[in-house]
Amino acid sequence: MALGGQAKRKGLTRREFITIGWWAAAGLVLTEISAGVIYSLWPKDKPKAQVQAFVAGTLDKFKLGEPVIFKKQRLYVSRVPEGIIAFTTKCAHLGCFVPWRPDDPSEDEPSKGFGDKGRFNCPCHGSIYTRYGVRVRGPAPRPLDWFDVKLDGDKVVVTIGKPIQRQGATSDQIATV
Ligand code: FES
Repeated sequence: MALGGQAKRKGLTRREFITIGWWAAAGLVLTEISAGVIYSLWPKDKPKAQVQAFVAGTLDKFKLGEPVIFKKQRLYVSRVPEGIIAFTTKCAHLGCFVPWRPDDPSEDEPSKGFGDKGRFNCPCHGSIYTRYGVRVRGPAPRPLDWFDVKLDGDKVVVTIGKPIQRQGATSDQIATV
């Protein structure tokens, strides 16, 4: 039995307990912040657009100047004098569905031989497009986005997935017939 002198203290004082608790909480917060920063800097896999070939039909299905709609695939296939072109039904302005209007006045060059009727006319804000999906007027900033199209024998094959933005209609967008 110890006699005299100081008795040995057991356990933590209230102050020590609070200090340890504070450091433990600060450590936890710091760990969470560090984990968040590391996670945000870690390279992530980008979701890949699904690309697949869609057989739209045989060539005889597509008449000059009469675009055919594929509602499920949300695209038009349009036969023009140079061949076949495919583009989205989604307006390049704010994404409304753009219907084909066969009785509206044509906006295509007369030299193309389409006659004087037929154009795409967006009902939302009035963007107008030709049979090539090219914007003529209205708030849309560009033509209707296009899909790659090829001929496999007499089959028209459209590569669907993410449509491609463009600034005009060029020969590389058209499958020559
Ligand atoms: S969404 Fe087509 S013109 Fe605005």
